[in-house]
Amino acid sequence: VRTIGVLTSGGDAPGMNAAIRAVVRTAIANGIRVCGIRRGYHGLLKEEIIELTARDVADTIQRGGTILQTARCQTMRTEEGQQKAAAICKKYGIDGLVVIGGDGSFAGAQKLANLGVRTIGLPGTIDLDIACTDYTIGFDTAVNTAMEAIDKVRDTSTSHERCSIIEVMGRGAGYLALWCGIANGAEKILLPEEHDYDEQSMIDDIMECKKRGKKNYIIINAEGVGDSINMAKRIEEATGIETRATILGHMQRGGSPTCKDRVYASVMGAKAVELLMEGKSNRVVGYRHGEFIDFDINEALSMKKEIPAHQYEISKTLAL
Ligand code: F6P
Repeated sequence: VRTIGVLTSGGDAPGMNAAIRAVVRTAIANGIRVCGIRRGYHGLLKEEIIELTARDVADTIQRGGTILQTARCQTMRTEEGQQKAAAICKKYGIDGLVVIGGDGSFAGAQKLANLGVRTIGLPGTIDLDIACTDYTIGFDTAVNTAMEAIDKVRDTSTSHERCSIIEVMGRGAGYLALWCGIANGAEKILLPEEHDYDEQSMIDDIMECKKRGKKNYIIINAEGVGDSINMAKRIEEATGIETRATILGHMQRGGSPTCKDRVYASVMGAKAVELLMEGKSNRVVGYRHGEFIDFDINEALSMKKEIPAHQYEISKTLAL
């Protein structure tokens, strides 16, 4: 491989810069040129391609977001878009491409691999919703950011003896919600994966908890499980307990990456380049059972991931 392209795609995630930096420096250390592609596949199709030196990624490992910017690109889902993207890679001599993003981004990488551009995917999303890996770049930072914010909401919730609904991100996945629920000692965790959400039983539980002497009732609501603001109104009406909703929103996606995100993203970035140097293509890097490993993208995309049911049960017991 002579020239490696690197892009970030989909929602940004803290640690993406650490991964980009590792790709750039590992490649340059091995005599390989690196092209940074701005704004994901969208920028690739617009030829927003710049050469990156080791110095260009200095002072970036501690920064949130992505220095390359990112985008969600519909055109890359079409055959025409994929053909054009492959032709642009060839035009710029990019014979290896590292794509940092989620499943949608890997689907694009898979198509490019079929069209002769060697591709490696790195899991970058705060949602942790990539089946082949126990770790995704950005989750650790996001979950810690959310946890700290929820601690603050809890202080005021206890003072006022309120019920507080805190809505966290995660799209269709409840990992952020589950982890925060356990870490923040929530009374209730509403997960998109849990199909039997019953508001009346939650209302009964709120009253029960009050009888048991609880000073507040914290509900972690994964986005997608009903509207938190209206839920708060209904709960207040039914229980007579003041209820407030807080939607954490995009603050969960920003901020300086944690040590874990910096280190794991660095290792994954370096591994992506190593795989390309070994002539591999159509692979995605993952982390499982304490090891950094790689999977065929087709296989990775066909895997299913489930919320750990036992951990969810434990969270309920600990809400006693
Ligand atoms: O996938 C990351 C994520 O932050 C999800 O948790 C959320 O549903 C979505 O992106 C929000 O997307 P946008 O930034 O486009 O509003």
